[in-house]
Amino acid sequence: MSIHKDSQINFIVNLLFDRRSYAGSKVRCRTLIFTLLLLQYEVITLGIETSCDETSVALLQDKNVHANIVSSQIAHTKFGGVVPEIAARSHIRIIVPLVTTALEVAERQLADIDLISVTRGPGLVGALLVGLSFAKSLSISLGKPFIGINHLEGHLYSLFLADEPPRCPYLVLIVSGGHTEIVLVEQPFCYRTLGRTLDDACGEAFDKVAKLMGLPYPGGPYIEQRALKGKIGSVDLPVPHPDGLSFSYAGLKTAVLYYTRENPQYSIDDVAANFQESALEHLCQVTEKAVRETGVKHLGLVGGVSVNARLREKFQGLATRTGVSLHVAQAQYCTDNGAMIALAGTERFTRFGPSDLSIDVVARERLEELPHP
Ligand code: KG4
Ligand code: ZN
Repeated sequence: MSIHKDSQINFIVNLLFDRRSYAGSKVRCRTLIFTLLLLQYEVITLGIETSCDETSVALLQDKNVHANIVSSQIAHTKFGGVVPEIAARSHIRIIVPLVTTALEVAERQLADIDLISVTRGPGLVGALLVGLSFAKSLSISLGKPFIGINHLEGHLYSLFLADEPPRCPYLVLIVSGGHTEIVLVEQPFCYRTLGRTLDDACGEAFDKVAKLMGLPYPGGPYIEQRALKGKIGSVDLPVPHPDGLSFSYAGLKTAVLYYTRENPQYSIDDVAANFQESALEHLCQVTEKAVRETGVKHLGLVGGVSVNARLREKFQGLATRTGVSLHVAQAQYCTDNGAMIALAGTERFTRFGPSDLSIDVVARERLEELPHP
């Protein structure tokens, strides 16, 4: 029986008694029948992610990932950053072949899909529209429900693809190319963002510093690689200290710019090592403050930058110092992927039901704005 059974029962109760949560009586009735059927077996969810420059399609049954295909767009490399129109056009070209491949890998057919889960934002509008429109069309043609998912909630659910997910209440640091924020999850679907970046996201700073030194896009993995050969302490770069639980990378990025201008013979390895150390130390200091202020016992680390081995090492030290248990997603679920969207969609669907076909993409949407119990 599915691990989602409790929340499915909750969902049915809500569906019957809470009229505010669901669109119309037709939808309520159809969803009730469908959910009663889903109680009998484990839901097969198709997850679709197209919020930025990765097209990803996954097939998930319960918490088992049967396929998670990720296609990273290399067309942006020569521009040193994501070009929104190129991203949207690339998603259009590849989405159908990716669904076909995911079904082949999972040895399933379209008719086996119970639920379609898709990222609706935040992200690039054109890129999101490809995924959402595709998901709606598939939902209509298969006669199966679909649900639109917040990308950050997707990253958060990457922790639940592991054997030992954190227990509420927990803190999670979301650190990616578009976001750097620390969130308190008091109970499932109930989020409080304690701090976020005032300017650049951490991954964005990695990408910009890499570009400055002529390294390819996305810069994070290249900086990490070059940092292994650099000497910490050889370049004097500041650790940012904004107020409260905020993050900031503009000052550090500018310090790298000035250093490289004033020292044209600079060593890429040394700049990479020292930039990385300051950038990650900043994440650690703010997160440690948040752990101590909230007194939580569980800490999660998600998003593209969480692949970084030095960050994981530093967070392990933080966890030992503060006595929290650390939860980090497996590497393949850190950067953007369909599996995390599929799991977030399955969990949210069993609690709140499907999305209406009229939903739009959202360029910006905070976790607090999502419905919670
Ligand atoms: O989560 P993600 O795939 O996409 C967003 O939602 O933004 O994160 C991508 C970001 C990029 O900025 C990339 O440079 C960074 O994650 N990244 C890394 C590493 N691998 C990817 N940053 C530091 N070290 C890495 N090993
Ligand atoms: Zn992401």
